Amino acid sequence: MPQHLNSKVAFISGAASGIGLACAQRFAREGAAVVGFDLQPSDNWSGVEQLTKKCTFVEGDVMDLAGQQAAIEAAVAQFGTLDILVTSAGIGDAGPVHMVEPDAWQRVIDINLTGTFLSIKAALPQMMAQRSGSIITVASVEGQIASEGGSSYNASKAAVINLTKNVAMDYGQMGIRANALCPGFIETPMFHSVMDHMPDMKESVRKEHKLGRFGKPEEMAGIVYFLASDDASFVTGQAIAGDGGYTCGPSHGIVELMGLT
Ligand SMILES: NC(=O)c1ccc[n+]([C@@H]2O[C@H](COP(=O)([O-])OP(=O)(O)OC[C@H]3O[C@@H](n4cnc5c(N)ncnc54)[C@H](O)[C@@H]3O)[C@@H](O)[C@H]2O)c1
Repeated sequence: MPQHLNSKVAFISGAASGIGLACAQRFAREGAAVVGFDLQPSDNWSGVEQLTKKCTFVEGDVMDLAGQQAAIEAAVAQFGTLDILVTSAGIGDAGPVHMVEPDAWQRVIDINLTGTFLSIKAALPQMMAQRSGSIITVASVEGQIASEGGSSYNASKAAVINLTKNVAMDYGQMGIRANALCPGFIETPMFHSVMDHMPDMKESVRKEHKLGRFGKPEEMAGIVYFLASDDASFVTGQAIAGDGGYTCGPSHGIVELMGLT
């Protein structure tokens, strides 16, 4: 198989699980050097090590700017450049406003939004020096359209989308692209920790995906790979949904009524 990211270097936050791990595996298969960064220990990361020798894992918190700067400096010293940043670290939370405690609100905004800001801030100096780079933030369809009871999470992801557009505007002339991936509901540990406790809601949410199923982390990694690659060289400032049609519009059962199943 040809390796389309040969000689590229990727830094991925949230790389120990779910979408971030799938991106690390895909990038490794495509020949990139991969640096994973996550709060979790690197247990899952061994799969990436089996795919490439050009990889390293750093245990750390996206709220720690200095930690990410040090990890990126080490990556550049080891592999030579920083071409791709994927910000997949994030947490879920739920609750309508009157039920969300300020501390819980702040934690979601801190990790999902400020953590993304700090990862981008850590990556930009090297990308600016190179005058090239592709930044892919992982937002959510829930940052594009709201969903019931998702106040803090949805607000954090909407802000990530706009932050990404701003990065695209501010650094485009330096050859740096920035796009937001907006996943639908993807079968990851985060997904299962929430959805498996609510079977009725899970079924209703499944039906809102017009393909009639949830997504897989590998499908998100495919979109991230495209955005990272030179095939996306004229794509910047976009919020790209990988959502099986979730954001097309609401379902009212007409498809079933017409036997289109
Ligand atoms: N799974 C979905 O349905 C879905 C849908 C839309 C968006 N997303 C977004 O995709 C991203 C990845 O989610 P996932 O489903 O793969 O979840 P996941 O829980 O499987 O993976 C998230 C990873 O982020 C890491 N992480 C959390 N806080 C961190 C911190 N402060 N510093 C460093 N690492 C941290 C976790 O340890 C974990 O390894 C998240 O930003 C999530 O909001 C997921």
